[in-house]
Amino acid sequence: MPPWWLFLTVGAAAASAASINPSTFTVPGAFPTSVFTKYYNQATATSAQVQPVISDPVTHETYPLSLTDPNHIPQNDTVDPHPLPPVASSKRLLDSALAQVQSISANPVFANNTCAQCQSILEVAKFLTLAAPEQGPAFFVGVCTALKLASNCNVMFAIQNIGSVVTQVISNADVGGYDGQAFCQNFMGMCPIPPTSPLNLTNWFAKPKPNPLPAPKQRSGKRLNVLHISDVHLDPRYATGAEGNCTTGTCCRTNAFNTQSPNATLSPAPRFGTFHCDSPMALVMSALQAIPALTGTKGNGFAWTLYTGDLVSHDPESQLSRQYVEYTEALMYDLFKKMLGSGPVYAALGNHDSYNQAQDTPHSIGGGLAEQFSWNYDHVASLWQHEKWLPQAAVDLARAHYSAYMVKRIDGLRVISLNTNLWYRANYFNYINMTNPDVSGMLRFLTDELQDAEDAGDRVWIMGHVLSGWDGTNPLRNPTNLFYQIVDRFSPHVIANIFFGHTHEDQLSIFYANNATTRNADTAGAVAWIGPSITPLTNLNSGFRVYEVDSATFEVMDAHTWKSDVSTFPALDSQIQVGPSYAYEYSTRATYGGNVTSWGANDPLNATWWHHVTEAMEADPSLVTTFNTFQGKSSVQTKPCTGDCITAKICYIRSGSASIGQNCQQGFGSVQS
Ligand SMILES: *[C@@H]1O[C@H](CO)[C@@H](O)[C@H](O)[C@H]1NC(C)=O
Ligand SMILES: *[C@@H]1O[C@H](CO)[C@@H](O)[C@H](O)[C@H]1NC(C)=O
Ligand SMILES: *[C@@H]1O[C@H](CO)[C@@H](O)[C@H](O)[C@H]1NC(C)=O
Ligand SMILES: *[C@@H]1O[C@H](CO)[C@@H](O)[C@H](O)[C@H]1NC(C)=O
Ligand SMILES: *[C@@H]1O[C@H](CO)[C@@H](O)[C@H](O)[C@H]1NC(C)=O
Ligand SMILES: *[C@@H]1O[C@H](CO)[C@@H](O)[C@H](O)[C@H]1NC(C)=O
Ligand SMILES: *[C@@H]1O[C@H](CO)[C@@H](O)[C@H](O)[C@H]1NC(C)=O
Ligand SMILES: *[C@@H]1O[C@H](CO)[C@@H](O)[C@H](O)[C@H]1NC(C)=O
Ligand SMILES: *[C@@H]1O[C@H](CO)[C@@H](O)[C@H](O)[C@H]1NC(C)=O
Repeated sequence: MPPWWLFLTVGAAAASAASINPSTFTVPGAFPTSVFTKYYNQATATSAQVQPVISDPVTHETYPLSLTDPNHIPQNDTVDPHPLPPVASSKRLLDSALAQVQSISANPVFANNTCAQCQSILEVAKFLTLAAPEQGPAFFVGVCTALKLASNCNVMFAIQNIGSVVTQVISNADVGGYDGQAFCQNFMGMCPIPPTSPLNLTNWFAKPKPNPLPAPKQRSGKRLNVLHISDVHLDPRYATGAEGNCTTGTCCRTNAFNTQSPNATLSPAPRFGTFHCDSPMALVMSALQAIPALTGTKGNGFAWTLYTGDLVSHDPESQLSRQYVEYTEALMYDLFKKMLGSGPVYAALGNHDSYNQAQDTPHSIGGGLAEQFSWNYDHVASLWQHEKWLPQAAVDLARAHYSAYMVKRIDGLRVISLNTNLWYRANYFNYINMTNPDVSGMLRFLTDELQDAEDAGDRVWIMGHVLSGWDGTNPLRNPTNLFYQIVDRFSPHVIANIFFGHTHEDQLSIFYANNATTRNADTAGAVAWIGPSITPLTNLNSGFRVYEVDSATFEVMDAHTWKSDVSTFPALDSQIQVGPSYAYEYSTRATYGGNVTSWGANDPLNATWWHHVTEAMEADPSLVTTFNTFQGKSSVQTKPCTGDCITAKICYIRSGSASIGQNCQQGFGSVQS
């Protein structure tokens, strides 16, 4: 049957012809109350709609007025069941999460946007790791496999390796925001790097920078010898004769080989080390025997020594352990004590001096996780105390501040050692709340110590492992952007020098006022000396440095660098009469100072001088060539720096934070390849 309205239309059109009557009908105004037997209201009223009382013939329920009362519309149905799905088992959570990774990977909406794809996957990961943390490692193995991020995903992300760390980090991080983007950039190569976050310095400094600055201290004219060694990377598992040119894992180990020649060793590891390997015990002992002999400190030792981190070898994560790290720490600090004579060694933790490597947790992660690396801070602090290098006050600071400490020397110098894992890009824990430049509080500690030193009129040396600037490829932007402002606030009157290691190369960073908006001799305020490594890894010679330091101002008056030519080591294997030679490489003042004509022989190698050196480099690129050679400790493997490399290198020297360094032309930072 056609619908009723069709008849109406037809009826209207054919009205005159049809027999339907009447043609209009006016409905009565009163409600036909007989339709329902009962009403809640006055059914005959004209102003309100009728509210009939309805009884359900099936349920026999009489529906209440409150259900339809126009003046009291109910807000919340609290009576009916609202079923939810059952709680998923841990296994089902994992399976669903991995299935979602597959869907996200296959979905064309994400196909052309790897960053959106990656952050979506991290969202899945976040809620899985919150609900079922025990499935975190298995999930990350699955993601790594699905996205083909590595060939050994099941090893890398196992709970015995980095799986537990990544699980902790993803469950805590803002994976949909800045944290996730940075994580996807650094660890997965799927996002662009997020920009430096705005820095709010309101209330960061207790006092404004003094203006005018206090009068500089007078130099004593008396010079102290200070040793700077870095990146020993002792490999106690080094096997002489093993493959020194391996394709996976750590070379110069009996379990290492080259895929092109699995049965025949291409490059047998020499007894004293080689370009692709960490330091065998024989090389470490050679360096420590050469240092007192070459520096004239055999009888009296150094005033003090700086060790800017990395004692432990470059092993794959799966071959490391807490015990291996502690072994190396105990062995190496003891060797320093035995070989370097009197004078304390001030050490900083390197990224390899930790297990898992490069990992350290901000205390604010809370609960049982906050103290998960304290075993290491306690261990090194106790060793530093045992060797009588640090007083109780500094040891207590080291235990409380991630191994960072301040030691107040009786000569008026304060040395502040930092744990730079807290700004290193490979520390997963730095990807939690990244827009905060100081989640760990270490830079708060540094600032407070610098303020104390300023108030006391003391000078400070800052030391750490991972450099804050250069080409910006190692440190994170937000923390080093803050560090740069701290250095500016306390330079040059408090901070006399800064020292780092990590790259294994001989480098330098200049810090300028006003975030380097103008870089000239007047705005240059501080320098960071990046010390050469003992390890030859990779393609480098082995080296160390001694500073001549004024005993009153703690300025560097000259720096002397020695190196050992690693290409000569294979020839030493056939005999035991002689070991490696360490030879004088260069004097910093003599090498770079020739064209800094405004400088007297008793003026220090400070930031002003170094800026003049970079101007001399601009005028005479051969100085950059020299810098490049020394960067690799005169290794035969170092390639020349020409063309764009010249300007890039000067730019790196003028960059003290990752935010600034990343504006330089990239690709010329290292001489190792
Ligand atoms: C409705 O329920 C929500 C959630 O339980 C509650 O916050 C809200 O106050 C309720 N509204 C009324 C009118 O009762
Ligand atoms: C993805 O990119 C390819 C090649 O650039 C293009 O052909 C395709 O239409 C894009 N797909 C989407 C969903 O944007
Ligand atoms: C900066 O921090 C101060 C206090 O720490 C706060 O009062 C102010 O609102 C912040 N400014 C911005 C722009 O966030
Ligand atoms: C090292 O191994 C690579 C192949 O993995 C080969 O190309 C190179 O020539 C080898 N070098 C030496 C010194 O054996
Ligand atoms: C290496 O030795 C194994 C076992 O003797 C043999 O099967 C293999 O063919 C050898 N590989 C090469 C490249 O010589
Ligand atoms: C990250 O920020 C959130 C929100 O402010 C805070 O609750 C949490 O404790 C922070 N996490 C860490 C590790 O500081
Ligand atoms: C560096 O030393 C020179 C000479 O003593 C001095 O004039 C200059 O102010 C110093 N620069 C800094 C940054 O301390
Ligand atoms: C000084 O600079 C000139 C070129 O400007 C160069 O020829 C000369 O070798 C430089 N001298 C030193 C000692 O560096
Ligand atoms: C310093 O300069 C860098 C590079 O331009 C910038 O990313 C950063 O935000 C600046 N920092 C401050 C505190 O202005």
